[in-house]
Amino acid sequence: MPDEDPSAWWREGVLYEIYPRSFADTDGDGVGNIDGITAHLDHLAWLGVQGVWLNPITVSPDADWGYDVADYTDVQPVLGTLADVDELIARADERGIRVILDLVPNHTSDRHPWFVESRASRDSPKRDWYVWADPKADGSPPNNWSSSFGGPAWTFDEHTGQYYLHNFLSEQPDLNWWNEEVRAEFDRILRFWFDRGIAGFRIDVVHMIVKDRLLRDNPPTTDDDHFMDQVKGQRPVYNSCRPEVHDVLRRWRRIADEYDAPRVLIGETHVFDYDVLASFYGNGDELDLAFNFLFLFAPFDAEQLRAVVDATSAALPAAAWPVWTGGNHDAYRFPSRWAAGNADAARAALMMLLTLRGSVVLYYGDEVGMTDTEVPRERLLDPVGLRFFPLYGRDPERTPMQWSAEPGAGFTDPDVEPWLPFGDLASANVEDQRHDPDSTLSLTRDLIALRDAVPELRHGAYSRRDAPAGVFAWRRGERALVAVNTSDATAIVDDVFGVVRIGTRRQRDGERLDGTLRLAPWDGVVVWLDA
Ligand code: GLC
Repeated sequence: MPDEDPSAWWREGVLYEIYPRSFADTDGDGVGNIDGITAHLDHLAWLGVQGVWLNPITVSPDADWGYDVADYTDVQPVLGTLADVDELIARADERGIRVILDLVPNHTSDRHPWFVESRASRDSPKRDWYVWADPKADGSPPNNWSSSFGGPAWTFDEHTGQYYLHNFLSEQPDLNWWNEEVRAEFDRILRFWFDRGIAGFRIDVVHMIVKDRLLRDNPPTTDDDHFMDQVKGQRPVYNSCRPEVHDVLRRWRRIADEYDAPRVLIGETHVFDYDVLASFYGNGDELDLAFNFLFLFAPFDAEQLRAVVDATSAALPAAAWPVWTGGNHDAYRFPSRWAAGNADAARAALMMLLTLRGSVVLYYGDEVGMTDTEVPRERLLDPVGLRFFPLYGRDPERTPMQWSAEPGAGFTDPDVEPWLPFGDLASANVEDQRHDPDSTLSLTRDLIALRDAVPELRHGAYSRRDAPAGVFAWRRGERALVAVNTSDATAIVDDVFGVVRIGTRRQRDGERLDGTLRLAPWDGVVVWLDA
C-alpha cells in the first residue's frame, strides 16, 4: 500500500465490518466482545484488511442491538470497557489496521438520560432535544410519517400530552438536529472518540437526521419510486435528505480535519437516487464515503450491476470516491442474496467487489463465503425480525463468525450456547479454508494482495468493456481487465490478449489468453492485458 497519499488506507484498502456480538467471545458468555476482536487481529492482518468498522459498542438497552444508545462515551459492559477499546486500537495500529466506530446521531435510546429528562415535562431544559409535537385536533399523530420499522413514526406520551418522533422503534426517539445544544454535544462525542485514536465513523442513517421544520406530510410513492421506498408507501422527502443535513456534515468534516492523521466519515446513505447519493460528498467537505444501497440491492445480474456502477460513476463528483459492499448487518449476506448459496457465484461477486474502482467494505464472514443462517422463530432477537416474521429479519446475517467446524465454532467455548445460533459450520469456516489454495478465503486474500500490488486496481480509472449478455466486464486503467459471468451459461469475450492474474477457478491463474476469453457459468477473471 503506497503511503504518499495519507487517505490511501480507506480509499484503496479493504475495510471490514465487524458485528461485535458475533465476532469472537473470549469470556465464555456466548456473546462476542472487544477482546475477541483484538484476539483475531492477526487474521485480519493476514487477510490484508486496512480498517475495521465496529457496529455500536456503546451503552445500550439493546432494543435495537446497540442502535439505541444510552451513553455515547462509554462501552456496553457485555462487550468490554474503554480500556479494552484502547487496547484494540493500539494492537490494531501495530498491524496497520484502523478502527472505525459506529455513530448513531439520529436517535437515542428512550432510556438515555437526555430523553428521560426531555419527557419529564413540557418545560424540561432537554424538551427541545427531541422532536415533540401536538396531536392533531382528532388526537391523531402530527403527520403521516411512517417508521422505517413499520407503523407510525410517532408515539403519544400521556404524561405531557404530546407525540414524540421515532423514525425507527418507539424505544429510539429521534433527536432534534435543529437544536444547537444537540449539535454541540455531538461535536464533543466525535472529539471524545477521535482523541482516543479511532480513525473515523460510520454514521447511522445520516441522511435522516434533520427533519422538515414544519413537519409536513410525505407524499405517496408512485410506480417510478425505487421498490425500497414503495414498500413504505410514502416518499421520504420531509423526514430525510433535508438540505440542512449538509450543514451538519460540513461541521463534522471540519472536526475530523482538525486531526493530523486523516479521519474517515462514512455515511449510511440509504437513498435510491444517484444525485442525492452524490450530494452527500458535498464539495469534498462532507462524507468521504457514502454507502451505495442502489448497488447493494441490485440483483446479481451483469446488465443491472453495470447500470448501477455506470450511473454511480457518472453522478459522483470527480473527486468523490465510491464505496461498494455486498452486505451488512441489515441485509442478507451476498453469498445467499446474490448467489443463492452457489459458491461459484459468491466467488464471482467477491471478485467484483474487490476490483471495482472504489473502497470496499466486506462484512465479517464474507471472506469464507458465509451464507445466511436460518434462525428459528424462538431464537429471533432482531426487533424487525420479530415484527415481520417470517417475511424479513436481520438475525440470519448476524450469526457468529465461523472460525472452525468444532463445537463452539472457535467463536465461544465448546459447551456454550451462542447468543444467536451457529450457521452451517462445515460449509464455510476459517480453519478449513486457511490452508486450502482453492478456498474462498484464499481467493479473498489473494485478490486483496493483488489489489495491493497492482496500482491500476487501487486507483486506475474505471471504463466499461463491451461483453456478451450475462457478463459484466470493465477495465481499470490501461492494463487491468475484469470479467465476471453472472449467468449460468458459458460466455465468450473476444479480443482479450493477456494473462489471467487470478481466476475464481484458481486453475486459470496464469492462463495465457490469445483473443478468446471463455467464461464458464459464474466464472470471474482478472486479466493483465498485453501492452
Ligand atoms: C441503521 C442501522 C440499523 C438500525 C437502524 C436504526 O439502519 O444500520 O441496524 O436498526 O439504523 O438505528
